[in-house]
Amino acid sequence: AKDPVRVLVTGAAGQIGYALVPMIARGVMLGADQPVILHMLDIPPAAEALNGVKMELVDAAFPLLKGVVATTDVVEACQGVNIAVMVGGFPRKEGMERKDVMSKNVSIYKSQASALEAHAAANCKVLVVANPANTNALILKEFAPSIPEKNISCLTRLDHNRALGQVSERLSVQVSDVKNVIIWGNHSSTQYPDVTHATVKTSAGEKAVKELVADDAWLNGEFISTVQQRGAAIIKARKFSSALSAASSACDHIRDWVVGTPEGTWVSMGVYSDGSYDVPAGLIYSFPVTCKNGEWSIVQGLSIDDFSRNKLDKTAEELSEEKALAYSCLI
Ligand code: NAI
Repeated sequence: AKDPVRVLVTGAAGQIGYALVPMIARGVMLGADQPVILHMLDIPPAAEALNGVKMELVDAAFPLLKGVVATTDVVEACQGVNIAVMVGGFPRKEGMERKDVMSKNVSIYKSQASALEAHAAANCKVLVVANPANTNALILKEFAPSIPEKNISCLTRLDHNRALGQVSERLSVQVSDVKNVIIWGNHSSTQYPDVTHATVKTSAGEKAVKELVADDAWLNGEFISTVQQRGAAIIKARKFSSALSAASSACDHIRDWVVGTPEGTWVSMGVYSDGSYDVPAGLIYSFPVTCKNGEWSIVQGLSIDDFSRNKLDKTAEELSEEKALAYSCLI
């Protein structure tokens, strides 16, 4: 039998946490033959609720779940973890300035970076979900210099999956037959959902999404804005932000990273830019990636037309501004 993998979920008493921990305990993230030990962190005001989640995990009698650590102590939470899913953060409340929210999250991610660096297992893989996801991941990277930058990522897989979903609805095809959409840039409304290279499996072979949709006005307009604004649409409908889809996409992100992407398929991940596609190096930016042997690599050589170029640059600009704002909070 395999040794259990320790998976940390921060903010585990929150909405996404509540959807995510049972998925992990059922093997959705790491496979149906991979035992897990869950480490759940939250803050003291949520300690009782966190304990309630722990009670439910016991009650569900998950065969793969070999242990649960539920704590408000960040050092205990990070001890020996192989995978860290960072969902905890400070939400933007009505009337709050961007800088105030940024400042709270910078201080959270700075201290959690140090705890992970000191106490996580070697080669721990980190996924930041909490917003501003890209910039929180960047702060985590900067303050955990001994964790390889290849091991730090942020979630744009939900946006990627939303783009697959929109194409599948529009064409009335199975979502599993659609692939190779791309989310470029920030997990925010400046992200660029790109279908230039996306395809659909049909009985007549693989076809370009652009050719099948045959409506550039929709692809360059409503499609993009629907994906960009989907988070807000979910809040409007549900009165809470996306949770089950965020949790499911976080599992997809980690699973593909660990197990590998299928041949000929790429996914979107927020990763440390090396300057590919003329995206400024030193930002956490969402790129198309393939994964193999536990490592991602940015898909190279895709053609970028003028329309796309403009959108790649816009979202990079926003990330550079966020980075500057985050750094201004450190002083
Ligand atoms: P939530 O408010 O229900 O849960 C957040 C939890 O984090 C709370 O239990 C809170 O007590 C905890 N927390 C706060 N500070 C913490 C700290 N320093 N350490 C540990 N835990 C802490 O929020 P929800 O809906 O679960 O969303 C979580 C985050 O994920 C938000 O920042 C949200 O904006 C973001 N998000 C990101 C998505 C993405 O695609 N990247 C998609 C959906 C949400």
